[in-house]
Amino acid sequence: MKPYRIAIAGLGTVGAGVIENLQSNAELIEARTGRAIEIVAICDRDQDSNRGVDLACYDWADDAGWLADIDGLDAIVELIGGSEGIAYDLAKAALGKGVSIVTANKALLAHHGFELAALAEKNGARVGYEAAVAGGIPIIKALREGLAGNEVGSIYGILNGTCNYILTAMRETGADFADILKEAQEKGYAEADPSFDVDGVDTAHKLCLLTSLAFGVQPDFKAIETKGIREITGADIKAAQEFGYRIKLLGVAKRQGGAIFQSVEPCLVPADSSLGGVEDSYNAVFAEGDFVEKVLMTGRGAGRKPTASAVVGDIIDLAKGLDTPMFGVTTDKLTKPVWADAGQIKSRYYIRAGGDAQITEEIGKAELEALTDKLDSPYIMRVEDL
Ligand SMILES: NC(=O)c1ccc[n+]([C@@H]2O[C@H](COP(=O)([O-])OP(=O)(O)OC[C@H]3O[C@@H](n4cnc5c(N)ncnc54)[C@H](OP(=O)(O)O)[C@@H]3O)[C@@H](O)[C@H]2O)c1
Repeated sequence: MKPYRIAIAGLGTVGAGVIENLQSNAELIEARTGRAIEIVAICDRDQDSNRGVDLACYDWADDAGWLADIDGLDAIVELIGGSEGIAYDLAKAALGKGVSIVTANKALLAHHGFELAALAEKNGARVGYEAAVAGGIPIIKALREGLAGNEVGSIYGILNGTCNYILTAMRETGADFADILKEAQEKGYAEADPSFDVDGVDTAHKLCLLTSLAFGVQPDFKAIETKGIREITGADIKAAQEFGYRIKLLGVAKRQGGAIFQSVEPCLVPADSSLGGVEDSYNAVFAEGDFVEKVLMTGRGAGRKPTASAVVGDIIDLAKGLDTPMFGVTTDKLTKPVWADAGQIKSRYYIRAGGDAQITEEIGKAELEALTDKLDSPYIMRVEDL
């Protein structure tokens, strides 16, 4: 069988990792795929930088926009990033010509996933995006294929390794958010501009894709209420621990009657629960299906090698001709989501005001407001008893 011909755009952390994976495991990848994977072109802004892999044998394209014009190309691996600009233009150009894409770019897909899925369908192309959600954890494949016979009731994810690292370090050291963030930036675990991570935007990008896949609805990033971890204090972590809980930034989507409740916010989860035990930069996704019951997958949610592993898994699937729609069903079957009214949701809440913290019984939004109305700047988190 002739080789599967790919071009790679973006040779940073993930792009270089993908080349390393394809080079180091070339033999077993070819055996499992039934054909070779051939890199016919690569592209990055800087052709001279040392990326820790041998790039001498590949042709460089000076402009990523040219890749979609390569004759006989099967797929473009987009690892530049960003929801707009070159990543979006390249994805549209490739899919418009029937060339599949593989991407780790959750921002791009959270904003344009529906349009790109429709374009792929129209032109007989595919979109692989395993690496876009929870890095090395094959949750997209699990939901789309392994759990395809289930109606999913809920999905909970610890989807951002930087936040989980910070929350774990705060608990272990007793230090406050700002000090741990600074240390994480010095060690390279957090970006110089950490806002996408710590404000929950990155988690919301990923949840948007999981919700669509799990519930068969059109992705709708703007509908996700998002709260990050900046306001959590060392005292909150300590109080949660005394109540038997740990604080995790969760992306949650669950059925609530005929609607879907969706949120990204720090929540209290039992310390001895499966998610409570997911620490440091690890990610985890916990899903409930009507036949399988509970499934937990955990692993590295980011990093050169784990993310490359997910990208290469997608390339292999495409090369084998796996033909699954991006969100599990074709875009004409994705329904418009009905979002649950937050006022109808009952939950237990952690409330901190002044020097005191408490956990309420299960109450609705109105009772919560009545409780917190007279408190001075209360800080509130939902309790997810899982
Ligand atoms: N890093 C992770 O662990 C991880 C995990 C999951 C998903 N992802 C996603 O994977 C994607 C890539 O992330 P990354 O961490 O590998 O980013 P990165 O290290 O910044 O790599 C991106 C590369 O693309 C290059 N680039 C930028 N604009 C370009 C253009 N117009 N033409 C050609 N090359 C261009 C960059 O060059 P310059 O350096 O000159 O800008 C850089 O070398 C993102 O969508 C990210 O969200 C990353």
